[in-house]
Amino acid sequence: MSIIVITGAEQGLGLELARAYAVGGHEVVAGCLKPDTSDMRALSAEHKNVLVVPLDVTKEGSVAALADRFYNKSADVVINNAGVHFRKWSMPERVSFADWETTLQVNTLGAARVSFALRESLARSGNGKLVTISSDWGSISNHPGTAYDYCSSKAAVNSVMRGIARNWSSDGICVLMIHPGWMRTTMGGADAPLLPGDSAANVKKVIDLAGPADNGRYLDNLGNDMPW
Ligand SMILES: NC(=O)c1ccc[n+]([C@@H]2O[C@H](COP(=O)([O-])OP(=O)(O)OC[C@H]3O[C@@H](n4cnc5c(N)ncnc54)[C@H](OP(=O)(O)O)[C@@H]3O)[C@@H](O)[C@H]2O)c1
Repeated sequence: MSIIVITGAEQGLGLELARAYAVGGHEVVAGCLKPDTSDMRALSAEHKNVLVVPLDVTKEGSVAALADRFYNKSADVVINNAGVHFRKWSMPERVSFADWETTLQVNTLGAARVSFALRESLARSGNGKLVTISSDWGSISNHPGTAYDYCSSKAAVNSVMRGIARNWSSDGICVLMIHPGWMRTTMGGADAPLLPGDSAANVKKVIDLAGPADNGRYLDNLGNDMPW
C-alpha cells in the first residue's frame, strides 16, 4: 500500500487516476479545487482509502495546508495533474496574456509549488516518485504552432522537472513527465480518441514500472520516450 497525492482530482484524468489507485488499495489524497462535487462524494463514499482535500495549486496557503498533512509522513507518489488550457483553437497571436499568466501559474508554477512543498515527504518514502502530467505540446521540437500559452507552460514545467530530477535523485526520488494522450475530457474535448480511464490505466502502469534509471524521463502513456 502506497500513499498517492493527486492534484486536480475532481474530473478528467485526475479523477480516473484517483479511482485507479483507490481500486488498487492505495491511500489516495485527492487534491481538488472544488472538493464537494458529486463525483468526489461518490468516490470517497465508495473507497474509504480516498481522502478528498481542498487544493488550489496557485495558492501558497492551500499548498502549505496540503504539506502540513504530510508533516513527518511520507508520500510515495505525487502526481502534478492539475492543468488549464484556455481558448484552444483561436489564432495563437490572439492569445489573452491574462490567460497565459494563469496558465503558467497553474501548469508550471503550481506543479513546482506542490513538488517543493512535498519534497521531504517524497524523500521519506525512500523510493518516491514525482510525476508531472505534461503534454506532447510541451515538446519544443514538435511544437504544434498553436497555443503559445499552453505549450510554453508545459515546456517550462518539463524544464523545471528536469532540474528537480538532477537535484533530488540523491533522495531516491524518481521524476517523470508523462504525456497522457489526447483524452475525451473537458480539456481534450469530445473528439478525443482516448477515454481518461484508459489513459489513467496506462499512466499508472508507466509509474508503477518506473525505477531509478527512469529519473528525468519524458514519456508517453505507453512508456516510450517523447521528443524534447
Ligand atoms: N485532455 C487532453 O487531451 C490532454 C492532453 C495532454 C495533456 N493533458 C494534461 O493532462 C492533465 C489533466 O487534463 P484533463 O484533460 O483531465 O483536464 P480537465 O478535465 O480540464 O481537468 C483538469 C483538472 O485540473 C483542475 N485545476 C485547474 N486549475 C486548478 C488549480 N488552480 N488548482 C487545482 N486544480 C486545478 C481542474 O479543476 P476544476 O474541475 O475545478 O476546473 C480539473 O479538475 C492536465 O495537466 C493537462 O494539461 C491533457
